[in-house]
Amino acid sequence: MESRTLKQAIDGSFLLGAAISIRALDDPAQVDLLTREFDQITAENVMKPMHVQPRPGEFTFDAGDRIANFARDNGMTMIGHTLAWHQQTPAWFTQQPDGAPLSREAALSHLREHIFTVMRHFRGRVLGWDVVNEATSDKEGEFLRDAPLRRAIGDDYVAQAFRFAAEADPDTKLYYNDYGAERPPKRERIVRLLNELKRDGVRVDGIGWQAHLGLKWEPGVDARTHEPTRAPWADEIEPTILALHAACPNVMVTELDLDVLPWPATGMGTVLTDENRDAIDPFRDGVPDHVHAAQSQLYAELFDAFEKHRDKLSRATFWCVNDGQSWLNNWPVKGRTTHPLLFDRANRPKPAYYAARDAVLRCKRGRSPFSSKEAIR
Ligand code: G3I
Repeated sequence: MESRTLKQAIDGSFLLGAAISIRALDDPAQVDLLTREFDQITAENVMKPMHVQPRPGEFTFDAGDRIANFARDNGMTMIGHTLAWHQQTPAWFTQQPDGAPLSREAALSHLREHIFTVMRHFRGRVLGWDVVNEATSDKEGEFLRDAPLRRAIGDDYVAQAFRFAAEADPDTKLYYNDYGAERPPKRERIVRLLNELKRDGVRVDGIGWQAHLGLKWEPGVDARTHEPTRAPWADEIEPTILALHAACPNVMVTELDLDVLPWPATGMGTVLTDENRDAIDPFRDGVPDHVHAAQSQLYAELFDAFEKHRDKLSRATFWCVNDGQSWLNNWPVKGRTTHPLLFDRANRPKPAYYAARDAVLRCKRGRSPFSSKEAIR
């Protein structure tokens, strides 16, 4: 029986990472799992602007330092997340007290000061930063999102952030990170942004495909007893990697998870009640075999593609380590029980873990022994 870990199976083809909170570092079981199973870490929250600079000029690095030092002390690669984002950023960064946007000069000055101070603080411990997060729009016909930084600075806030970052630390890699690249219209906007930055001579060293994915349940189906249908994104894995790679040679999967819960018919912000619980929170007592099987199949397809395109992909990072920690337990509905990762709530590997590992091994076995990975990091 195969006893290798997933990381051992990947064997350096790409880094295997996880987002963590500082709570994980106080739990010996988590520390053991992290160091055994992963070789890269992202801070899930504590390096974001609201944590690092809650008030103007007041920088707090304690939590970020703990994570960065843990990565360094355990020989793991640390990625910084994130410097410019429309969420988890204090209002003073971009707005006047009455909510009106700051002047372009004032907002640029905040952005520059933030990027310089944070990048220089972590210099040497953070290999690369998600400099700008989620700048593209989700709306048809709209290119850039209506973000507070954009309202204050203008459309070039993305380029400005990358220019500040390049100046702050020429040795750290600079990444653009976004979700939804598995959906062709959103992918086109991401590719357009990368191409425009390239045209304008802006250095971007990597593109992050967040890869928040999920099973697809037909409306009204009882997920406890029925099969999911094939999610459209499953046929977009390779096209996504190829399109992103054409725009930027270093592709990274940065926030991987594969939700198993049905999307609520009543949408975002639906409140869990006794009436809707069975329909939208069907796996609170565990995951039935047919759901494990569907999730395993899709994780196998993902990791097969990652291994196949290892010359284009430098890492695959999970958004948290075990199912109990996932943000998806509280989004789009608060308080559900989901199972999107490779480790369960007791840190045990799930069927999807073995499926991912075996897909990597199969892919390696089917390959010419003479092929080798080029350094793209
Ligand atoms: O810190 C407070 C705590 O004091 C309070 O008691 C608690 C009560 O709800 O809330 C805590 O804040 C939460 C914070 O995470 C820290 O845990 C916020 O409510 C919660 O909204 C916040 O969610 C984070 C989310 O980003 C914010 O948008 C998630 O943990 C984090 O996983 C998620 O990560 C993002 C990536 O950065 C970017 N891509 C999407 C991804 C998922 O949304």
